[in-house]
Amino acid sequence: MSELDLAIRGGTIVTASDMYKADIGIAGGRIVAISDEITGAREEVDASGLWVMPGGIDSHVHIAQDSGPGIVMADDFSSATASAAAGGNTTIMPFALQKRGQSLRQSVEDYRKVAENQCFIDTSFHLIISDPTPAVLGQELPALVKDGYTSFKVFMTYDDLVLNDRELLDVFDVARREKALVMVHCEGYDTIRFLAERLEQEGKVAPFYHAVSRPEIVEREAAHRAISHAQLVDVPIMIVHVSGAEAMEQVRWAQQRGLKVYAETCPQYITLTADDLQGLDMEGAKYVCSPPPRDAESHQAIWEGLSQGVFQTFSSDHCPFRYESPHGKLNPKARSSFRWVPNGIPGVETRLPILFSEGVSKGRITPQAFVALSATNHARMYGLYPRKGSIGIGFDADICLWDHTRKETLRQEILHHGADYTPWEGFEVTGWPVATFVRGSLVYRDGRVLGHPGHGQILARGISEYVSRQ
Ligand code: URP
Ligand code: ZN
Ligand code: ZN
Ligand code: ZN
Repeated sequence: MSELDLAIRGGTIVTASDMYKADIGIAGGRIVAISDEITGAREEVDASGLWVMPGGIDSHVHIAQDSGPGIVMADDFSSATASAAAGGNTTIMPFALQKRGQSLRQSVEDYRKVAENQCFIDTSFHLIISDPTPAVLGQELPALVKDGYTSFKVFMTYDDLVLNDRELLDVFDVARREKALVMVHCEGYDTIRFLAERLEQEGKVAPFYHAVSRPEIVEREAAHRAISHAQLVDVPIMIVHVSGAEAMEQVRWAQQRGLKVYAETCPQYITLTADDLQGLDMEGAKYVCSPPPRDAESHQAIWEGLSQGVFQTFSSDHCPFRYESPHGKLNPKARSSFRWVPNGIPGVETRLPILFSEGVSKGRITPQAFVALSATNHARMYGLYPRKGSIGIGFDADICLWDHTRKETLRQEILHHGADYTPWEGFEVTGWPVATFVRGSLVYRDGRVLGHPGHGQILARGISEYVSRQ
């Protein structure tokens, strides 16, 4: 056997399908051996008592994304990937945003420059299409897919991003031809505007009314419309951040009809509620995200979806803004209406502990399902498999050592993100990441981010397995 750089010994390996005790041998950043006993490596890590899992892949995060005049995201690539590493993740997928009037290629190149040499962990970009011009549809997208940008997100809401039905259909059609995966933000623009304007006229402008302006029916209608368009065009789609029973039922309905409709959900939809947006004064702004958190009944429904396979991926939708900041949640216009509170919450570091604790520790899902939902399915969905997403010979040595018994209380002071709060302050979890390895290099251990920005690579991706399968 070639000389090993590292052996991880005595742990319990968990994959999407297995759980067994074995040692792991790593050389050149890859897993090259798995067996009962591996000796003679240059370095050894004792993993006894720990679970050895594929590092988390978070396929839905927003980093240093343009968020409108005067608003600044709380993380750059360095802080976001440090925070992700501390949360047990080894790959994240943020979005390169095309602003209207801009070329898509240019937006990707610009975004790449922002990320380059800044990442502690591996990173790969989705595209956000806000301006599907003939040049974007005809030339830019096909070329970008060939270059490894094999997924793009489209929005059915937000002033600066919304696509109309015809534009959605055009993007879906290109995705079908190029075998790319479209991620759809399903909330109806006009229904939200109608409700929001009515609330504002009634003087209902506090952060809580953000949730009132975006009820489940708004998400359900858009989900159904997206599914119908996808069926018409005959293209697989991924419905992101599904928040409750209504939209989930649409996904299930589509899946039962044999349509290639996939879905993602997030920690906020199993733990937070619209009541969290009530808070004293502007405190509710800390929980403003879209779709908004729902209620305990919705949490129950989402768990059914998670355990029954309606959802393929569980992502954070990390989208951090500082609370105490004129460039964040408390910007000068935020008090005048919920509509000016930037949408999004931080969560890349807390995603895995929340899913593990609420899911595995509470007996709702198996350890294997945890791995599938947090890593393996992300790699399969977005064209990184079999390079990433599992513990097996030939995979990148992207590994998280996990203490499944450790109890922690989530608190801002222990987190590494650039936000100045966590929506989960005081939330108790059982299960915690102890160490994170990216391609065999230790990037996080026991509360400390190690490694260096620039270790993380910017990855091109292949075609989604969920697309090529058809
Ligand atoms: O509120 C959220 N989720 N902000 C991030 C943007 C998005 O729609 O995913
Ligand atoms: Zn979205
Ligand atoms: Zn998002
Ligand atoms: Zn390095």
